[in-house]
Amino acid sequence: MGSLEGKVALITGGGAGIGSSIVERFLNEQAKVCVFDLSEKRLALLKEKFGERIHTVCGDVKNYQDNERAVSSTVNCFGKLDSFVANAGVFDGFNKLLDLKPDVLNEAYEELFSINVKGYLFGARAALPELMKTKGNMIFTISGASFYPDGGGVLYTASKHAGLGLIRQLAFESAPNVRVNGVAPGGTITDLTITPSLRPYSISKTSGEREASIKNRNPLRMAMQPEDHVSSYVLLASDQSRAITGEVISSDGGLGVRGLS
Ligand SMILES: NC(=O)c1ccc[n+]([C@@H]2O[C@H](COP(=O)([O-])OP(=O)(O)OC[C@H]3O[C@@H](n4cnc5c(N)ncnc54)[C@H](O)[C@@H]3O)[C@@H](O)[C@H]2O)c1
Repeated sequence: MGSLEGKVALITGGGAGIGSSIVERFLNEQAKVCVFDLSEKRLALLKEKFGERIHTVCGDVKNYQDNERAVSSTVNCFGKLDSFVANAGVFDGFNKLLDLKPDVLNEAYEELFSINVKGYLFGARAALPELMKTKGNMIFTISGASFYPDGGGVLYTASKHAGLGLIRQLAFESAPNVRVNGVAPGGTITDLTITPSLRPYSISKTSGEREASIKNRNPLRMAMQPEDHVSSYVLLASDQSRAITGEVISSDGGLGVRGLS
């Protein structure tokens, strides 16, 4: 028996990277899963791979109506919602504030915050009424950048700190009915997208360079794979964590114990 047997989950950004590993593991744990993603192509590939075991919704987390459609479509298909996983996110390419021309700031801010912060907030608002009915839970993918500098540039770090604020306030507001927690991955080998307006400012690294730089930054010397994080999501989605709310599992190779040298 899977630890999520009988549960229904909605996962944003489940088409690639960390999200698609969560989807696969939740299915292995016998959950029914709806994937909400921008990419029709990625959703079609998931459908081809998992067939009737998953439901897909193509849409943009920036739009409130799309979030509402994802929730109602999940409930129409599977009858209820137990877990909402807010995961779709974009990156800023490690750009420092002075590296950015003032005329790109507004666009970059809008692009990044509207996915990494507003997308989570909209998804939470759309999902909450259904989660209240099932005494369910929300899990937000945040980041090492939610706690420490230099896990991205200033925009990404600020957006991921905001994600931590969303978790804490929503855990407070949603108790006693709905638990709200987070998982904070460290640098992970995915194709995390740099938001369009910042691409011209960003230096692209080969996959080897990326792997080496991630390994050098954490005490466990790991270039993490998406699969390294998924057990944390399973725990937080399952009834085994029924006493846990407002918490974040750091899955980052030990960023908190880096020391001073
Ligand atoms: N990769 C890392 O090093 C890392 C580290 C810490 C935290 N994170 C966080 O993990 C999450 C997932 O990152 P990833 O590396 O797996 O990214 P990814 O780019 O590999 O996958 C993201 C998925 O989200 C979808 N998406 C993007 N914008 C969307 C939108 N507006 N609406 C709906 N879907 C959208 C994409 O189509 C894609 O399928 C993000 O929140 C990211 O900030 C990533």
